[in-house]
Amino acid sequence: MEAQKEVLYAQLAAQLERLLDGALPLVSNLANASALLYQSLPELNWAGFYLMREGELVLGPFQGRPACTRIALDRGVCGAAARENRVQRVPDVRAFPGHIACDSASRSEIVLPLHDAQGCVAGVLDLDSPLPERFDAADEAGLRGVVSVLEKVIFQ
Ligand code: SME
Repeated sequence: MEAQKEVLYAQLAAQLERLLDGALPLVSNLANASALLYQSLPELNWAGFYLMREGELVLGPFQGRPACTRIALDRGVCGAAARENRVQRVPDVRAFPGHIACDSASRSEIVLPLHDAQGCVAGVLDLDSPLPERFDAADEAGLRGVVSVLEKVIFQ
């Protein structure tokens, strides 16, 4: 399973690299990135971005149900990822204090910070699943690779 995920994420990172274009507006690249992630990864109910704007996270391109538009940094899994500048892998969202339930179907999630050229948090990538414990260490490693591609092409 670990090896399968390694292959899946390597393919995904390569596809993303071909899809993204540094000459395009941020919104175009993030829209396509969210669509690719949502279509490629099984058992997701939401995949998308929140971007840092004036000290809070603001909804960016995504796939899934409509979501909350602003997240303060002291709120939710996304806020924790941005505030602590650390990947948040949450096996059971009901057990996470302050989790924001945009879609009641979400049971687990992973949120990864995205960095600009100065190493500051520019936003987060948020993936939600209707399955508990959907994201393991192999998903985290693979998604860190995906984030590296995004950072290289879009945020630097
Ligand atoms: N899960 C997030 C809120 C955003 S929705 O999941 C799209 C959180 O608690 O930070």
